Amino acid sequence: MEFDLLIIGGHLIDPGFGFSKRADLGIAGGKIARVFEEGQLNKEEIKKYLGDRVIDAAGAIVATGFVDLHVHFREPGREDKETIMTGSRAAAAGGFTSVCCMPNTQPAIDNQETVKFVTSLAEKGDCRVYCIGAITKNRAGQELSEIGDLVKAGVVAISDDGDYVQNPEVMRRALEYARMFDIPVISHAEDVFLAAKGLMNESFQSAKLGMTGRPAVAEEIAIIRDIKLAGLTGGRLHIAHVSTAGGVEAIRRGKAEGVKVTAEATPHHFTLTDDLIGERFDTNLRVNPPLRTETDRQAVIAGLVDGTIDCIATDHAPHTDEEKDVEFDQAPPGMIGLETCLGLAVTELVDKGYLTLLDVIRKLSANPAAIVGLPSHGLGVGESADLVIFDPEAEWTVRREDFYSKSKNSPFVGRQLKGKVLATIMNGRVTHRTRT
Ligand code: DOR
Repeated sequence: MEFDLLIIGGHLIDPGFGFSKRADLGIAGGKIARVFEEGQLNKEEIKKYLGDRVIDAAGAIVATGFVDLHVHFREPGREDKETIMTGSRAAAAGGFTSVCCMPNTQPAIDNQETVKFVTSLAEKGDCRVYCIGAITKNRAGQELSEIGDLVKAGVVAISDDGDYVQNPEVMRRALEYARMFDIPVISHAEDVFLAAKGLMNESFQSAKLGMTGRPAVAEEIAIIRDIKLAGLTGGRLHIAHVSTAGGVEAIRRGKAEGVKVTAEATPHHFTLTDDLIGERFDTNLRVNPPLRTETDRQAVIAGLVDGTIDCIATDHAPHTDEEKDVEFDQAPPGMIGLETCLGLAVTELVDKGYLTLLDVIRKLSANPAAIVGLPSHGLGVGESADLVIFDPEAEWTVRREDFYSKSKNSPFVGRQLKGKVLATIMNGRVTHRTRT
């Protein structure tokens, strides 16, 4: 049998099939055509493929490509920050083979035409790009979008991310409609009135710095309300970027009560805390929901450990240097995250003993895929070859000039991380190989 690509010497980890073993993979026609048990593939055979048709994965992990439920690719409207092409290139560099784009573009992804526009641009991209449709027209929180039309055009979820759907009646109807199509409603859970125009977490730190705060209770109340509405309607609710101890606890209780609620945490919320803002005044630390206290950070980690938080999502939110190089209160909230995600997960969660590599892989692939109903592409014969190859031991320093994302707004520049993506393969095509 002739292969397009061989991946040799790697250690396969597949949470779906429940295995972890040394094996080689033969890829053909975009699929995994053969799994060679250790020693089955002879050296003569390998020689035929030498050059760019063999990836030597010795000492590395081979896993299902990562799936990000939460990215902002800014197209249409703000192509100066990111485009589908640059965003998908950054995704590939981070080990992602599928991403879901939030609809806070200009115009918003609230109609079939915009979904088709984004999807067609993505055809030539370096990862699979799915759209999340807006819950309400123009994300204004008033009138529901044509949800059936959006689903027909291919959206995998609906969300007004960036803003909370403050009107509970509108959110109730959104959950009812989404239930008919079996898609989740993703909630950016921050009560608008309580969070107001707060710049950072409301805490000792905000008082010390004289900055307006966004209290934890703004998130907690918003999550509790939406869980109640999910319970009432039977709809599927997904909580984006949970950041507070109270929010994690509310989701835990909701799950225990049988409500269909899932949740994600971002690498920045399980890594950073609000005291950094006073130390650095780095506008890249301004993000919504804001960085919280150490108690909150620990609660987010505990939620990841006990399964309350199902997956890791980046909330990759690119902004230009011009927008970020201003006073803290003038800078737009958000930071990029695709290219530092794996390194932060390994450094902060695996290396510190909270999660195993298998857990992290599951929270970056099978779990998010299941939430939005995407195939999770396991490592068995016949599966789509959507793969990531990474070295969990490799140490590297985050450098601004290495980002593929068009924007560079990362507070992690200069930070030493462990766990590096070596190659990404999407549909059998090599979409990223680390520069050596
Ligand atoms: O910090 C954030 N930035 N939070 C959001 O919810 C939106 C995002 C953005 O679009 O920049």
